[in-house]
Amino acid sequence: MGDTLKLGIIGGTGVYDLDVLTFDAEEQVRTEYGAVRVNAASYRAAEGEELSVVFLPRHGLGHTTPPHRINYRANIRALKDLGVTHIFATTAVGSLREDLGPGEMVLLDQFVDVTRTRQYTFFEGGLEGVRHTDMTYPYDESLRQVIIDVARERDLDLLPRGTYFCTEGPRFETAAEVRLFGKLGGDVVGMTGVPEVILANELGLQYAAVSLVTNYGAGLSDTPLTHEEVYEVMGANQLKLGDLALGLIQHLAVHGGEINDER
Ligand code: HPA
Repeated sequence: MGDTLKLGIIGGTGVYDLDVLTFDAEEQVRTEYGAVRVNAASYRAAEGEELSVVFLPRHGLGHTTPPHRINYRANIRALKDLGVTHIFATTAVGSLREDLGPGEMVLLDQFVDVTRTRQYTFFEGGLEGVRHTDMTYPYDESLRQVIIDVARERDLDLLPRGTYFCTEGPRFETAAEVRLFGKLGGDVVGMTGVPEVILANELGLQYAAVSLVTNYGAGLSDTPLTHEEVYEVMGANQLKLGDLALGLIQHLAVHGGEINDER
């Protein structure tokens, strides 16, 4: 593999570690935006086929930070400073479509940002300068293709495309918002995908995200939404996400970030 490749895994709700890897001690990384706790591990497929992996629980240990208070800039800066080149992120989402149910995994390819109060950029003018980053295709296409291949190899159901609406939270949506987002082309709705993906792009990191559907969006089913339901469904489907992550780790350890030409 290319020896500079390093994978960052950002675990969302319900994903606080990865059973498939044994991590070394927790590490604290200081950045100009704040300190971040991560776990680091090295995966070894065979002699010369190794991959460094850094795991970062997005909401902090014990899920102590709500989506609108997450320090997204510190998280992404910390991964970059640790030498991470590729990011695999997981997020819990509600479905905006009746034909997409709890337990399904969606590999995102687009987002729509309806958040309001976050820090969206590293480039605030002054010394950092003014920078307008291309965001036409925000999720890295080659990493997406590798994940699609891995899912196929492991017989995991994965919707290969999906548009993610990111809301401010921490409240869930109204039924009207869910209807509107669905009509506007959204597939899933969550609270944490933005600005994470934007910031990763700004620092030149190859970023992909898999969303796990934990519930139908507000108004698409008869039951009120609860955080407990989100946790429960995440817990019940954690093995699938872990399997996908392990497949990705093995692939990157053996082949690097290149797309397999024999596909
Ligand atoms: N809306 C927003 N975020 C979510 C949802 C939802 O329905 N489910 C899990 N995260």
